[in-house]
Formats: sequence, structure tokens, C-alpha cells
Amino acid sequence: MSDVEDREGLAELARDVAAYARYAREIGDGYVSAGPTAPSVRVSGTSASRAAVQEEQEEREPMPVKKVSEPVRTSGAAGESLEDIRADLGDCTRCKLHPGRTNIVYGEGNPNASPMFAGEGPGADEDASGRPFVGAAGQLLDRIIESIGLRREDVYIANVVKCRPPGNRAPEKDESSMCEPFLHRQIIAVAPKIIVALGNTPVQSLLGFKGGITKLRGHFFEFRGIPVMPTFHPAYLLRDPSKKRDVWEDVKMVKARLDQG
Ligand code: URA
Ligand code: URA
Repeated sequence: MSDVEDREGLAELARDVAAYARYAREIGDGYVSAGPTAPSVRVSGTSASRAAVQEEQEEREPMPVKKVSEPVRTSGAAGESLEDIRADLGDCTRCKLHPGRTNIVYGEGNPNASPMFAGEGPGADEDASGRPFVGAAGQLLDRIIESIGLRREDVYIANVVKCRPPGNRAPEKDESSMCEPFLHRQIIAVAPKIIVALGNTPVQSLLGFKGGITKLRGHFFEFRGIPVMPTFHPAYLLRDPSKKRDVWEDVKMVKARLDQG
């Protein structure tokens, strides 16, 4: 990318962040408000954080990192475990996906994982088995995890929605809104050092950005102080293998950050 393209991309990101901040202020209902312990989204990185707020700001003038409060419902109790959250989920009928499911796919892995991987929602294989990422995309995810020297059982894996959307469509807004607090609570319970957000659905859920995975990937953001690396979803890589290289780059950054301790 040229410098100019890079700046334009960041300026667009800045507009997204500003628009999201307005949106977040407007919808208070049912969500915790910003406060010392409230979740935040932060664009980290040098030029990204500058561009994120005031495009008209003089180009090289440093400015503080912008924090944007984010509407994450945290109805769970402080200190709750993954088992507590699973129990609260129960035999869920909260949204319209429930009649179509065979199994709830809650999530699995190391409850003290350093990296956590967030996907979109179960497909057919996951629905049948009750386990996340066990189909073709899951096998590719396993290889991505192994590429940074980890085994699947070292990480924690969960999705934004726990029931399979019909025909593998993306979850609809009402479904994600209803289900995502469980993912957010799972993240808080696991307290990973890094979250890898696989594709647009978890990026939207954790960061509030709509779309734009192509621009967001390769940069760290934050969900409640935890670094988030957006990258392409492995199912997308199966359709367009040329994007694998980008994903390797992204997970190399994840590994480097994990290695920093
Ligand atoms: N795709 C996802 O997003 N999640 C899964 O668990 C499987 C496929
Ligand atoms: N859209 C997504 O949701 N994920 C990808 O990885 C690519 C496009």
C-alpha cells in the first residue's frame, strides 16, 4: 500500500470510529455505560490512532489515542466461570435460531488460554457435533493455530452466535445482539492475552465496526483492554486461498505479541 492509500484507509477508519462513537452514545438502553470498568475500543498503532479521530488534525502532530465507549452488555456476575455462563445459557430459546438447531455450540478449549479465537456461528458440522470449528473451516483454523506453534487445545474457541443460522447465512442483528453477551462474558472469564476475530461478524461484535475486515486486518484493536487482531475467516480462505498469506501475517503479529509475554 502506498502512503496515500494508507492515509485514506485510516481516514475512513477514523470516520467509522467517530460514527460508531455517536451511535454508542445514542443507544444507552440495556447496556452498561462507559466508566472506569466499561469496555472500550481503541485503535492502537501509530498513524491509525491519530487518524482515528480528527482527520483535519495536522498530519504529523501527535495526539492521544482515542477511546470509544462500546455497548457491551455484561449481565453476568463478576468472576463468573465458563461453566456459570454455560449454565445461564441453558437450553436457550432467546432468539429465532433456536428451533433450527441440533446442538448449542457453546465453545471449547483451554479456560486459561492466551489466545482466544472468535468465529461467527456454527455450521452444519458444528451443529451436529456441538463443537466449534470442526468442519472444513475448522481444520484450516487448526492449521493456522499450529502455524504459531500452538495446539488447538491450547486456545479457546467460541462464536458470536451459539446456534446454527439456516443455510449458514450470517447471523442477523437481533440474533447477534441476543447472543453476543455470552461471547463477551466468555472472553471476560477466559481473560485471554489476545483475541483473534475471524471475519466481519466477530469484528462487528467486539469492535463495533461494520464490515471492512480488509482494512482492519493486520492492526491491533482492543476489546475491554484486550488486544484484538481482526483477520479473514477460514471459510473465506477456502474460497480465496490467495488471502492465506495475509492471515499468516496477522497471526505472526499475534505470535510476536504473545511472545512478548
Ligand atoms: N464457522 C464459524 O464461524 N464458526 C464455527 O464454529 C464453524 C464455522
Ligand atoms: N467477510 C467476512 O465476514 N469475513 C471474511 O473473512 C471476509 C469477508
